[in-house]
Amino acid sequence: MDAPRTTPSPEQDAALAPVIGHELVRQVLVCTSKSCAANGSEAVLEAFRARLIEEKLLFYKGNQAGEVQCINCGSVGFCAIGPAVLVYPEGIWYAHVTPADVPEIIESHLKGGMPVERLVRKRLG
Ligand code: FES
Repeated sequence: MDAPRTTPSPEQDAALAPVIGHELVRQVLVCTSKSCAANGSEAVLEAFRARLIEEKLLFYKGNQAGEVQCINCGSVGFCAIGPAVLVYPEGIWYAHVTPADVPEIIESHLKGGMPVERLVRKRLG
């Protein structure tokens, strides 16, 4: 019989995953699954990362003080209306996002707290 599994403590996990101890303000998820990728979502993801790095907002290995985590994700059901971009904690889901929309989303939503309504198709909560 196997020995019971011991779950590491929060402190042990924080030492291995620095994001745990970091104050993130927002998380941006860009769908890079098949349909969104076919509509250019990789370029959208890169546009977000480049602009967020430029603005010193991106949390990554090179800037552990960044307030925004930007990651790719799998399909969220916006396949026919992608690229899909989700912003948390607000739970705002954008559709039809192009690289040209990225500066507006960063300025208005991520920095100003005002979602870009013309691209919003779903709200959680
Ligand atoms: S492929 Fe992006 S939402 Fe389905």
